[in-house]
Amino acid sequence: MLARRTFLAAAVAAPALSACATGMGGSDNRASLPPLPHDPHSHARPDEARVLHVSLDLRADFQRKVLSGTATLDIAAKPDAHEIVLDVLGLTIRSVHAGGAEAQYTIGTSEEEIGAPMTVQLNGARRIIIDYETSPDAGALQWLDEAQTASGKPFLFSQGESILTRTWVPTQDSPGIRQTYDARIVIPDNLKMVMSAEMLTPNGEAAEGGRAWRYRMTHPIPCYLFAIAIGDLEFRSTGPRTGVWSEPATVDAAANEFVDMERMLEVAERLYGPYRWGRYDVLVLPPSFPYGGMENPRMTFATPTAIAGDRSLVSLIAHEMAHSWSGNLVTNAVWADSWLNEGFTTYIEGRIDEALYGVEQYKMAQILTWVGIQNAIRNGPPDVTRLHLIGERGADDSNGSIVYGKGALFLRTIESIIGRGAIDTYLKSYFNRFAFQPMTTDRFIADFRANVVRGNESLERQLQLDAWAYEPGLPSNALEPHSDAFDRVAQQVAAFNAGGPASALPWANWITMERQRFLQTLPRTETRARLDDLERTLQLNETGNSEVLFDWLSLAVANRYDPAVPSLEHFLTRQGRGKFVRPLYAALMRQGAWGQAHARRIYAEARRGYHPIVAGAVDRIVRPG
Ligand code: BES
Ligand code: ZN
Repeated sequence: MLARRTFLAAAVAAPALSACATGMGGSDNRASLPPLPHDPHSHARPDEARVLHVSLDLRADFQRKVLSGTATLDIAAKPDAHEIVLDVLGLTIRSVHAGGAEAQYTIGTSEEEIGAPMTVQLNGARRIIIDYETSPDAGALQWLDEAQTASGKPFLFSQGESILTRTWVPTQDSPGIRQTYDARIVIPDNLKMVMSAEMLTPNGEAAEGGRAWRYRMTHPIPCYLFAIAIGDLEFRSTGPRTGVWSEPATVDAAANEFVDMERMLEVAERLYGPYRWGRYDVLVLPPSFPYGGMENPRMTFATPTAIAGDRSLVSLIAHEMAHSWSGNLVTNAVWADSWLNEGFTTYIEGRIDEALYGVEQYKMAQILTWVGIQNAIRNGPPDVTRLHLIGERGADDSNGSIVYGKGALFLRTIESIIGRGAIDTYLKSYFNRFAFQPMTTDRFIADFRANVVRGNESLERQLQLDAWAYEPGLPSNALEPHSDAFDRVAQQVAAFNAGGPASALPWANWITMERQRFLQTLPRTETRARLDDLERTLQLNETGNSEVLFDWLSLAVANRYDPAVPSLEHFLTRQGRGKFVRPLYAALMRQGAWGQAHARRIYAEARRGYHPIVAGAVDRIVRPG
């Protein structure tokens, strides 16, 4: 068990007192080194010395696929601290300077995923300059060549969460350690660049061997939110504070798909207080982007598979936007508490969707989530069905249905007990009071008790807060969602199972989630004739909706349905989103020689297009052992 009780005492009893000593941005008490819980995924010792600000001066070398230059770190340290420990993974360090002189440093043994501790002797200095370059196979970076983009120009993007920033920036890579940053990056003339920061040079500036682009993030953020993308980028505005960036071929479709962004922002602000980051833009990446979305501040990174053409998958944007409060403003201090980021965010995503698209859609989403939770509880080891994860778990080995789904259900259950007005008031004050601070499960539960429960014993019993936060499975007060629309889908599933034709289905009148529910609840064994009827009538192989296509292909693979193989191959080679790619390969591998042959053949071609995160995961599925 992690020592969560002890941290609670420390975090609540010892608020930081000293004012900002760095002049590096907003209200900032980081110079006093407020205590942090132990992070098993970082080598940093933030109680001794802590990075406050990172200043990057780098060149993007697309030939060698490296970022190269310097990182200047401003540090707060205890008066008697002689050294600072950073996290590095695969970086080549050329030199370190501190206080104008060459500094001594050591790099310890590198562990898989966690990387190595880099210990720098401070010699009284509070600023160090590290001259370094990244490795061509840095886990956070994907370098796409001309053949892998729509524009025919190269592309680079980063993905920091959870613990990959250490593969491109030498800093303390722990989500409790908040850092401001600025950057000057020299890139090729014909490309543009964005970061998770304010752009200071909208067209770059003349520089040797390219153009230099400058950025700054004046709010302290965890470094998993440092982000960079370089490519043939264009911008389209969607409102006063919002817009989309993408390659020319996708930028108009993206702007059209995400027209509601400005309204989403207004809904979120009405519920949870002002949006604190200035602009909210979305970068739509090339199809190899490994996630649906990534909430990089000011600049969400998103998969092009969210563009369905009919705006039916925009809850993904609501989700990433919601992280501007839950995650980016109030941040899980360690990855074992990532439900504080993702569960809160999934709850807020639902509230935004409900406000914009109605309660019936919100309920459908709740049921899809509920099914995921039930499956996780049925199939998973009980330990990973806790919200606060125990042991060393939590960087990337958590269960999404739990972290996202059970986390959101916890807040919905609280809402059902204390009322919507009360939870809204509480959450707004939570985001205000803990803005720009790390959060733990203990700290949240203690705060909720202090502000809402306030010694009311019957309320305490009703809520079952400890069971929700710390125990496996679902507490008895979990609120099972219900949707009339899904009841009607169930009738259609029954009619189809009874032999009814696909032409009798109200498919054209169904929204995406109803279609998903239909495909997900059909029995996994169907005859060839029934699948033919479905496919021909609904043209499932051709659907441009990635979620519906995924559910269809999952059903098809379960039945070794050959007519879906070209569509499957197309899907697996044209996009690399882990959520779709991993389960489809796993499903193929479960289908004996038929599936394994397809998996190996398709993967041999597809692998080079996948992000290292996804390729690593599929390697373990397709080439076990
Ligand atoms: N923060 C996550 C992405 C993430 C999680 C990256 C863990 C690395 C480790 C992001 O906000 C997210 O949840 N994305 C989802 C989409 C969302 C609509 C559920 C995704 O990528 O599928
Ligand atoms: Zn998220």
